[in-house]
Amino acid sequence: MTHYILAIDQGTTSSRAILFDEKGTRVGQAQQEFPQIFPDDGWVEHNPEDIWTSTLSVCQAVLKDTGIAAQAIASIGITNQRETTILWDTDTGEPVYNAIVWQDRRTTTFCQQLSDQGLSEKVQEKTGLLIDPYFSATKIRWILDNVEGARDKAQAGKLAFGTVDSFLLWRLTGGTSHKTDATNAARTMAFNIHTQAWDQELITLLGIGDVVFPEVMDCSADFGVIDAHWLGAAIPVNGIAGDQQAALIGQACFTPGMVKSTYGTGCFMILNTGETPIRSEHKLLTTVGYRLNGKVTYALEGSIFVAGAAIQWLRDGLKLFSDAKETQSLAKQALNDDSVYLVPAFTGLGAPYWDPDARGAMIGLTRDTSVSDIVSAGLRSVCYQTRDLVGAMAQDGATFSALRVDGGMVINDVMVQFLSDLLEITVERPCVTETTALGAAFLAGLHTGIYHSLDDISTLWVADQRFEPTMEKGTGDKLYQGWQKAVDRVRTRD
Ligand code: G3P
Repeated sequence: MTHYILAIDQGTTSSRAILFDEKGTRVGQAQQEFPQIFPDDGWVEHNPEDIWTSTLSVCQAVLKDTGIAAQAIASIGITNQRETTILWDTDTGEPVYNAIVWQDRRTTTFCQQLSDQGLSEKVQEKTGLLIDPYFSATKIRWILDNVEGARDKAQAGKLAFGTVDSFLLWRLTGGTSHKTDATNAARTMAFNIHTQAWDQELITLLGIGDVVFPEVMDCSADFGVIDAHWLGAAIPVNGIAGDQQAALIGQACFTPGMVKSTYGTGCFMILNTGETPIRSEHKLLTTVGYRLNGKVTYALEGSIFVAGAAIQWLRDGLKLFSDAKETQSLAKQALNDDSVYLVPAFTGLGAPYWDPDARGAMIGLTRDTSVSDIVSAGLRSVCYQTRDLVGAMAQDGATFSALRVDGGMVINDVMVQFLSDLLEITVERPCVTETTALGAAFLAGLHTGIYHSLDDISTLWVADQRFEPTMEKGTGDKLYQGWQKAVDRVRTRD
């Protein structure tokens, strides 16, 4: 009997369930978007019940659509939007507040206070992260300080913290498993990436010591068994990784020096640095790439908050087109010179600027600026931001000749070609661009013995297309200089 693996990919704007066979071939998929909640400037929330019900219904839908019985599923892998923070009552499983999403900037002042107290060095040394509202820890503190009854519940030992993986696992297992994996833990700003344990000193300094933290596991492990009544069988969960790390695995970047960039809501570039955590001097993050059999593979990460979200804004906010697919032909009609730049700093700027107060801008508009010019500027903004990251990585001593790309945006050939031109390197697009889900499936399959090693998995990676730079030398540099000037106009700090 074929063994299937069910990958749950709980992302920022939608929940997906993808069923893979043993060869990593997708046999079915269901997807559901859910509401984004913007209660204030720079605030972003999700209703945890939306996260849960959309996840459950896509899992049920993919089984129904494919006609595959739950009993044929050997294992489940979960991958998720990282950092997004949920606190729930351990008795009832009810969240005490909405999920505070990774993009949310409400804790900017608290982060500034932490920096002013001189904690930046300690935080970077222990967690590999820079103090920023992006990470979970200050979001936990905000809930404890602002939600009535939350601190009392925490002091009574009845308030669980989890990133989205952990919350889903808790719900799927009927409240019997409160676990996470090392990649998700590494994004909380409360986890020591060297000792691989929650850092009690930081937790105390942050004032979040009363919440119950999940047990941190390898990415391939026994996370628990789902309650049979959700899908019709008691299926084990054997893989968990944050979505960007799952993409690293789905892209088979298992050798130090291999790098991938995922273009979803945001854009996240991750470089495998092997057994050694490399401390960035240029505002990149040191993080856990994956942890298998107790062995950590570290990574250097550049995080950009707005990539696909810029295209979503052009579509839904400005209504410049109705389907993202149209951006390809629109971009071909654009002037494509160095006149119009869109800086999509809607929720501040991530790496390498880390400026939570910056906001977006469109510059260089004239009477003949067309919709296609604006759309092209949106697509190009994603590539320029990638070049920012490549520049920071190079300053940290990391150079590479090829970049593996994935995520929803990379079906756009015009964008990927421009990326290759701008970076002046080969850009490789795999046949399966759903690499986050694939990575989660690989992790689950590794534990159940469907795959025996990372080498096994590497053989399943196949390139769809390789994009080589074609632009005249120097043109990319000139365009990029225009971008740097545009970014300078929105920055609020050095
Ligand atoms: O760190 C945030 C990241 O995990 C979100 O990923 O794919 O939902 O943009 P995505």
